[in-house]
Amino acid sequence: MIKLGILASHRGSNLQAVLDAGLEGVLDARVVVVISNNSASLALDKARNAGIDAIHLSSKNEGSEENTDRSICRALRDHEVDLILTLGYMKKLGKETLGQFKNRIINIHPSLLPKFGGQGMFGNKVHQAVLAVGDKKSGASLHLVDGEYDTGPVLSQRSLDVLPDDTAESLAARVLELEHRLLTDTLVKIAQGEIILP
Ligand code: GRF
Repeated sequence: MIKLGILASHRGSNLQAVLDAGLEGVLDARVVVVISNNSASLALDKARNAGIDAIHLSSKNEGSEENTDRSICRALRDHEVDLILTLGYMKKLGKETLGQFKNRIINIHPSLLPKFGGQGMFGNKVHQAVLAVGDKKSGASLHLVDGEYDTGPVLSQRSLDVLPDDTAESLAARVLELEHRLLTDTLVKIAQGEIILP
């Protein structure tokens, strides 16, 4: 069984999708720790409600980005995680965590990368940008984290049609549902050896 460590900053709906897939017996993986830079993150609440270790780690409390990186890395190691998922985590990971978990950190992004990725491309900004250029398709991507924003090798993607009357909000809502399915399906494939990480 794969042990997952999750980093998230806000709502935690992708975390919930992973927890649900585990409970439904679809996914042979267990979330063992959830870490957030935001003490008010709903992801931490969801973790606590599920009896999972929930840890708030931010540079404000830890004193520096380096200390935060060290603490994040230690928490993930202490929980013996096999795979880390950044699910709406609004911070860049530090060198220690990236080095210790090379090719074992996966990020989810609400666009068809490499389109509409990079610094500042989050939340509705992504969907506004898709609508602004008039793309007929959008979607979601999972990729390995290489330390930059949204640039590591893509592991899986799924697309949907952009509708003529879509707003950033309506598109965001459909992409989010797609994200949840893509995430759980990809994790199942990793757990079953159908997707092999480098
Ligand atoms: C998702 O759209 C994800 O792709 C992006 O941030 C959002 C997080 O949503 N990186 P949630 O916190 O999982 O609900």
